[in-house]
Amino acid sequence: MNLKSELESMQGRSFLKEADFTPEQIEALIDFGINLKHEKQEKGKVTPYLHDKDIVLLFQKTSTRTRLSFELGGDDLGANTAYIDPTSSQFGKKESVEDSARAFGELADGIEYRGFEQADMETMAKYSGVPVWNGLSNEWHPTQMIADFMTIKENFGHLKGITLAFVGDGRNNVANSLLVCGSMLGVNVHIVAPDSLHPTQEVQDLANVYAKKSGAKPMVTSSIDEGVKNANIVYTDVWVSMGENNWEDRINALLPYQVNMEMMKKTGTPEGQLIFMHCLPAFHDKNTIKGNEAFEKYAQLKTPGMEVTDEVFRSKFGRQFEEAGNRKHSIMAIMAATLGDLNLFKEY
Ligand code: CP
Ligand code: NVA
Repeated sequence: MNLKSELESMQGRSFLKEADFTPEQIEALIDFGINLKHEKQEKGKVTPYLHDKDIVLLFQKTSTRTRLSFELGGDDLGANTAYIDPTSSQFGKKESVEDSARAFGELADGIEYRGFEQADMETMAKYSGVPVWNGLSNEWHPTQMIADFMTIKENFGHLKGITLAFVGDGRNNVANSLLVCGSMLGVNVHIVAPDSLHPTQEVQDLANVYAKKSGAKPMVTSSIDEGVKNANIVYTDVWVSMGENNWEDRINALLPYQVNMEMMKKTGTPEGQLIFMHCLPAFHDKNTIKGNEAFEKYAQLKTPGMEVTDEVFRSKFGRQFEEAGNRKHSIMAIMAATLGDLNLFKEY
């Protein structure tokens, strides 16, 4: 793969979901993220690919990592960023997605958008006429994927043949993205969830099309034993995503799927070949308002923590903070590939 020409093939494009790009392009973004990380480590700064570009950061849902990555990463690349929070603009309340997109397109060179419906992302891209980067929708979380597979490549040295078991809400944005993106890249993604929380047939079919080409072996199962066997990565996410509120149902359905040490052992994976990942934020103890409220309210939760126990979260397996750090390098790669001056490109 010629990294520079793969990156050039993405110029001017929006990044709304993984399937809009080829597996080679996705891999190029991962490698470019690793390159930018090395450049920063070696030189203390990175090439200003986005010199003087203006970028809107539009958030209809809250964020810590994604916002910081676009703001600080934008800064590193020489761009100006402006943040719009979920409550204090006209967006959605007094102004439609289409009208906002047209205004943003006049005001800025690129738009990060965290929202609800995937269709709104498409509308934003269509009417703004500038690259739009999906910072999370109900259906997909594509910028997270570049950081996640970058973290996996750094930990294992390669992607093909790695097995990732996602255990929990198997039809949320992160699970959908992992299943499809992993299948593009030759990673065997196992979605381990109760029947009621399996990915839609459409998402499974899409993953299977990619898997046929890449050689990946995706699996969707409600059996923990079958799903986590031989996993190199046990991955989980919150049981109730932003925009949802069905805590009791989810706790009842997913408590058996909590990631704990017994589950890590069930993988049977040898020492040094197994890690834990989480896109974060995580409920693993009582030190959050929501986590504590849930622990007080739902007697089913015998110990603090929901999707993962504190023991696993703080164990030698945990790579979740490394993964969080990679959000910035990977988001810089996405912005620079689609909007940056690639004449400046140099490999590190
Ligand atoms: N993983 C992730 O998207 O984190 P934030 O919600 O903090 O942006
Ligand atoms: N599934 C989670 C991911 C948070 C980064 C949510 O949508 O809230």
